[in-house]
Amino acid sequence: METITGLPRHVACVMDGNGRWAARRSLPRTAGHEAAEAAVIDVIETARSAGVKWLSLYAFSTENWRRPMGEVDVLMRLVRRVIRKHAPVLHARGVRCRFLGMTDPRIPPPLVRDITDLMTMTGDNSRMTLTVAFDHGGRRDIVEATRSLIRSGVPAEQVTEAGFAAHLPYPDTPDVDLVIRTSGEQRISNFMLWQVAYAEWVFPEVLWPDFRATHFWECLDTYRRRQRRFGDVRRPAAMTGEGLR
Ligand code: IPE
Ligand code: IPE
Ligand code: MG
Repeated sequence: METITGLPRHVACVMDGNGRWAARRSLPRTAGHEAAEAAVIDVIETARSAGVKWLSLYAFSTENWRRPMGEVDVLMRLVRRVIRKHAPVLHARGVRCRFLGMTDPRIPPPLVRDITDLMTMTGDNSRMTLTVAFDHGGRRDIVEATRSLIRSGVPAEQVTEAGFAAHLPYPDTPDVDLVIRTSGEQRISNFMLWQVAYAEWVFPEVLWPDFRATHFWECLDTYRRRQRRFGDVRRPAAMTGEGLR
């Protein structure tokens, strides 16, 4: 398939609105999370077939631990079920799966094992890299990177943006070009703070469980019509965050 001009290299989704989707149907919030699976699978497949090389999905934030224990429990089980069900297809389609975050000891050990297995199995795939931000917090990543930087003993005056970014988890990940946050909410919620510095944002009203391939294509189309300038007054040749450097 031909690569489309102006295709974002890295798309990130803040998958929001599951609870409201369920509430509108007089269902428990957890039914909204269950219904999110279809959207997740649709978006992965659509991004892959569109030629997007990097897709990141925000699945669980460091702040989401504040939710009722029952809801957190359902989310943990759901992630495990989705992995078990879809791992072979993801692998067969050349998707390299990574998980970003994952430090909290409350994550059930069987889930950690399944995630580790998935990452190992798909580690050499190259069609698309799927990063699932799970138990993720952008500020925590920055604090951890700072600790790592200090431990490396680099003198303060030699710290550069690129040198700092090398201490973030998965430093080979390119800057995010496009963030899609569903459900109409317009906030960052501690998501990949460093990597979204110059991203374009779109806020479709659709709730995440209803998000499908057509919505994703619409977001790509909106992105294509944006003019990215990275602080310059002309349109830079590069359509990606590389323009920052
Ligand atoms: C997003 O949907 C899923 C997670 C945060 C895990 P929400 O559960 O936040 O849904 P709303 O925002 O309450 O509708
Ligand atoms: C952000 O959604 C986290 C995920 C989508 C996983 P939230 O629904 O938790 O964010 P807030 O609470 O509205 O900021
Ligand atoms: Mg929400």
